[in-house]
Order: sequence, then C-alpha cells, then structure tokens
Amino acid sequence: MPFSRTAINEEQAHFSNVIQTFRQYAAYSLSANNRRRKDFFTLPRADQELLHSLRYKEKLAEVDRAILANAEFLNQIVVDPEIFGHELEGIDDPGVNDVPGDTQGPFHSHSHDHTHGPHSHSHDAPTRASQGHAGPEKKGRYRPTDFDMDKLRSTLKQFVRDWSEEGRAEREVCYAPMREALLQHFSDIPPAERHNLRVLVPGAGLGRLAWDIANLGFACQGNEFSHYMLLASFFILNRTDSVNQHTIYPYVHSFSNLPNNAAMLRPITIPDITPSSLPQGSNFSLVAGDFEEIYGADDDADEPHSGQWDAVLTCFFIDTAKNIVNYLRVIHRILAPGGVWINLGPLLWHFENNTTNDPSIELTLEEVKALARKIGFDISNERTIDTTYTNNAQSMLGYVYHAAFWTAKKII
Ligand SMILES: C[S@@+](CC[C@H](N)C(=O)[O-])C[C@H]1O[C@@H](n2cnc3c(N)ncnc32)[C@H](O)[C@@H]1O
Repeated sequence: MPFSRTAINEEQAHFSNVIQTFRQYAAYSLSANNRRRKDFFTLPRADQELLHSLRYKEKLAEVDRAILANAEFLNQIVVDPEIFGHELEGIDDPGVNDVPGDTQGPFHSHSHDHTHGPHSHSHDAPTRASQGHAGPEKKGRYRPTDFDMDKLRSTLKQFVRDWSEEGRAEREVCYAPMREALLQHFSDIPPAERHNLRVLVPGAGLGRLAWDIANLGFACQGNEFSHYMLLASFFILNRTDSVNQHTIYPYVHSFSNLPNNAAMLRPITIPDITPSSLPQGSNFSLVAGDFEEIYGADDDADEPHSGQWDAVLTCFFIDTAKNIVNYLRVIHRILAPGGVWINLGPLLWHFENNTTNDPSIELTLEEVKALARKIGFDISNERTIDTTYTNNAQSMLGYVYHAAFWTAKKII
C-alpha cells in the first residue's frame, strides 16, 4: 500500500523528534537532578547539615556522572541516523543539544520515573503527536516531552531485559518456554533443516527473542515499529563487537523505592553475548513498520505473507492491539497450514483510555482464547507464567504479571 506524502512527512517528523529526544537526554536528565540540588538549598541550614553527613550531595553528583555516561551511550546510537533513510531536516548535529555539565538545561523537568505497573510494559505506537507539552522551541529544534523521555528511559531498561546478564533471569522466564514450545512443535525436523522454517516475532523490542530463535537455526524475522526500539536494536545488533562493551545506568532516573544507593547507581554492562555471533548462514532480519500494515496487507507479489510463516511468536505483544480480532486474523492468515502461534503475555490493553481517539477492543483472557478458537486455532500447552517486565530487581517495588502462555496450532 503506497503511503501518502502527509503520512511520510509525519513519519519523518516523528523520527526527527525521537533523534532529538536521544540527543537532549543529558540536558533534560541533568536538569531533573538539579531540581534536587535546588530543593536541598531551600532547606534550613541544620537540615542541610544532616543531609550533608549522609553524603546526599555526593549522591547527586554520582547521579550526574551516571546520566552523562548514559548520554554518551545514547549519543552513539544516534550518531548516524541518516542510515535509516529518513530526511532529517532541522536536526542539530550530534552533541549540540547535549550539554554535559550544564545542569540547568534548556528547560526544567519534574519527570518522575514511576512506572506504576499498568502501562509499564507498553511501548507506545510511533505516535505522531506526543503527549504533554511539545513543539519546536525555535525553528528546527524539537523540545522532547516527559512522555518522550519516559520512552527513552524505558529503552535503557529494555537493554537490561534483552541484552544483559542482569536481565537473564527475567528474560529466560519469558523466552525459554517460547523457545521450548517452538522446538517441541517442530521436534520431527532435524536441526540442520530448521533454516527452512520461517518464524516471525512481531513487537520484537530489542530483538533478543528473535535473535535466540535464529541462533537455534530457524529463519527468523522480528518486526517492530517504535523508532526508539529500532534505533537501539540496530545499534546493539550491528554496531557492537564485544561482550560487555557498554555500561549503562538504567535506574538513576528515580529516587523512589530504593533500599540503598547501589540499587540506583549500579552499572549494567551490555551485551551479555556478541550479537554478531550467530552461526554462519543464519537467516535473521528485523523489519520496521506496523505489524498490521506489513503482514495484514493484501499480499504484494514481491513479499507475500499469507500462509508463508511456520510460526509466530508473540511475547508481551497481543495487548498492543487496537482491534485484537484483526491481530489474531493476521496471525492466523500468515501461518502456513499446521503452523503454530506461541504466545506469552498479560492483557494490559495498550489503547484502553487512550487520548488519541483510537478505537480499543478490550477482552478478557477467556474471551481472547474463545476468539482464537473461533478464528481457527487449537490451543494447547496452556499455563500461567509469573514474570516481571523491565523490573529493577533491587527496587522495593515490583510488579509481577500473571502472564498467559499457550501454543496454538492453525487448524483451519
Ligand atoms: C511490551 S513490548 C514487548 C517487547 C518484546 N517482545 C519483549 O518481550 O521484551 C511491545 C513491543 O511491541 C511493539 N509494537 C506495538 N505495537 C506494534 C505494531 N502494531 N507493530 C509493530 N510493533 C509494535 C512496541 O513498540 C514494543 O516494542
């Protein structure tokens, strides 16, 4: 389906805004930390001295340093955004908006990183109109919103989930059962022939599950539409040469629910494996764009999808649907006869109560499964898997999803 000029322009503007968000991370985050410094100086002298004895100001300085380290990492991700093929008019040069040491920043933020369970796992649509106050401060310069920065901070946490040793426990709770169910479904296929089986992972995030599947020898394609995820996954997959090459500080943006300073300031190194270490001849790709638009469109002659996929793996994905009926129809239609859909996730309907006038159909788990059966799936291997999602394992607050797992075979 050809896109209108307006849609292309909106997409490019959104991409530019995402790049600006990466580049203004330092100024924005240092400014938020500086608010704490200012608050400190509003206190009575005696209170300041008590906090001084707890080394509170030193802690703020350490947070500044961690933010600058994060900024260095994030700037590497967007050093060369032209490779993504978007026109980038009005984007400042790398580094121009990063003002290391400028704790004032261009604006002051009162962003708190309270990811209160609901919606904490939801990466948003590549919304053209971000929420909150946004817009050009001056011509060509976008001023990221709290909403934009929240997505960037979530991207840092997503690196932990997908590409760190620290994230292994959380990700294995989710990805191991999915890999096992896939291997089980195709247990009669010798490993050397797995490359003939095509597996799709929609909503691939930073790509680890898709990478794991390709590492098992399957032909695997991830699909993702968030520019934050796409920029970050491109970087980790294509621009990283060694284990633990990068150090990030994903937990320095909130001072709440911390048992001690280390819970906030501990460094996380990534990646835990070299992404380029896939076996010779592996077939692994990531496709950018909306799942329904790409895989639900009437088949184009070059890239047909109907009946072309042997497996679809959805992890924390189906609740991103506006219309779950269409999601399930697309999954069913693109599967080959006898193909398998493996799902794990909660039902945190992403568009529930949206402010963008998008439709949103919200079903219970029972209803989703009844719908899947009506569409033509035979569901088996059902269970509940308790799991966190991009959780700070050392926080005093943690949300556990009672996520639904199943294997569903296409029967009609
Ligand atoms: C909650 S995250 C899960 C990421 C990954 N599967 C994981 O388990 O870590 C959902 C992902 O789906 C992506 N997504 C949501 N709607 C999408 C759509 N219509 N097409 C492609 N990707 C989408 C989001 O950008 C986000 O990265």
